[in-house]
Amino acid sequence: MKFYITSPLYYVNDKPHIGHSYTNIACDVVARYHRLKGEEVFFLTGTDEHGQKVQRQAQSSGLETQEFVDRVSLRFRELWNGLNISHDDFIRTTQPRHIKAVQRVLQTLYDRGDIYQDKYEGWYCTPCETFWPELQVAGQNCPDCGRNLEQIKEQNYFFKLSRYQNWLIDHIEKNNDFIQPVSRRNETLGFLKNQPLSDLCISRPKARLSWGIELPFDRDYVTYVWFDALINYISGCGYPDDMDRFKNLWPADFHVIGKDILRPHTIYWPIMLHSLGFEPPKCVFAHGWWKVQDEKMSKSKGNIVDPVEVTDKYGTDAYRYFLLREVSFGLDGAYSEQALIGRLNSDLANDLGNLLHRTLTMVEKYFDGLVPAPEDSIQQPLDKELASKAVSLSELLEKCMQNLDFAGALSAIWELINKANKYIEEMAPWKLAKKDQTRLKVVTYHLLETLRIITIALQPFIPQTTKNMAKQLGIEENIENYQLKDMEQWGLLRPGKRISKDKPLFPRVKV
Ligand code: MSP
Repeated sequence: MKFYITSPLYYVNDKPHIGHSYTNIACDVVARYHRLKGEEVFFLTGTDEHGQKVQRQAQSSGLETQEFVDRVSLRFRELWNGLNISHDDFIRTTQPRHIKAVQRVLQTLYDRGDIYQDKYEGWYCTPCETFWPELQVAGQNCPDCGRNLEQIKEQNYFFKLSRYQNWLIDHIEKNNDFIQPVSRRNETLGFLKNQPLSDLCISRPKARLSWGIELPFDRDYVTYVWFDALINYISGCGYPDDMDRFKNLWPADFHVIGKDILRPHTIYWPIMLHSLGFEPPKCVFAHGWWKVQDEKMSKSKGNIVDPVEVTDKYGTDAYRYFLLREVSFGLDGAYSEQALIGRLNSDLANDLGNLLHRTLTMVEKYFDGLVPAPEDSIQQPLDKELASKAVSLSELLEKCMQNLDFAGALSAIWELINKANKYIEEMAPWKLAKKDQTRLKVVTYHLLETLRIITIALQPFIPQTTKNMAKQLGIEENIENYQLKDMEQWGLLRPGKRISKDKPLFPRVKV
């Protein structure tokens, strides 16, 4: 079975921050999870490199625009390496494969009569590159970014969104899962039902902006950056040169985005696809914003959190874990270093780290570092309870992951971790060591087996740590070879295997 997931394309007008990393970490977890299920996964990310914002930023940096975008795009790729993002392809909107696709789409829609020329007169926000209808403008400020609008008057090309408004309403109403979470679905539906859609201006005269993809039917214009960027979702999976591949991968299973870019993804994009004769994506999932002291992070506010700084200090997995666990995916979250340290110390160092360390210490101390062979006949109710909770974890995981409920998935995994820690207290292996070797073997084996299952479950979330866990537990170190179905079977850990205990997984951070 194929599974196709995309992140947005990141603007290269600035270096990456925590908000960008959030979307990609989320996509990465989903991609890794579906690989665990044995699916043929394609995870696409990349950079959005055209438009006025980028051109202006390049000018102020003193570099040639192409050189500027090359440099910033590289920073994104480096960050993804550092964060262990497992994307299968990285698309840049300045690549020939993308330019070709955009021009093919433009020509097709033009030939169909869905693109026409007209005069535009009205408000325009340069930083957002958006035309604003009079009705939506209060004063002279942009409804989105609040900055000053300009009055402009020019000939442009328009895409007939209005023609497909009813089709889109119908599609959203018939497909409950198309826009998630439901609050975002209601937002889009509300917008669509409240007013007639204006057609979308999809061109910019070259006289005003030269950094873009030329319209194939009028060389005096380039394409509006959003119209250009959205097409990456098909140019990145084969359209138009490899239509077999495209047909295998399309429609995408998930477009994961932030809530600020809901409208282009749930209005422009499905209509563009429909006009092209392609199906809409199966689901557009919009997550919330990371805020700092209740404000959205942005360069203009100067409150940007740099993921490289945080991961250098606390490690990649603590960062990934914090972002996914702290806030329910879809809602806004408050970033604070204090909260991250709290999670690191309690969940990662105490609960998870201690469970592994205590268990492996037992194996070293009582069994010379070899996995003991348990005698099943002497299983007690508490052993069975732990084992049954462990093998049923994959079912809970599946339920959460279908809805991109990462916090729910992690909380289910932590319930098992906590149960295993409690089991140690209840079984008191240090007492068993003195009087009951047979029980000691059973208890130790149960803990190791539970840890094996936890390692598989955590692989999508904290891949570097699970690699380390696997090594210490003496199980398959190539975590890419893991399979979800191995979580459903108790007893796969072979007695007699040597473990190799190492330092605790997460050193505690002093507050
Ligand atoms: N280039 C467009 C997307 C084109 S997709 C065809 C764009 N780029 S962006 O770089 O501005 O934003 C990319 C993603 O980062 C968006 O999903 C956005 O929501 C996310 N974030 C940017 N700041 C954010 C926070 N402060 N918090 C969470 N995510 C936010 O938009």
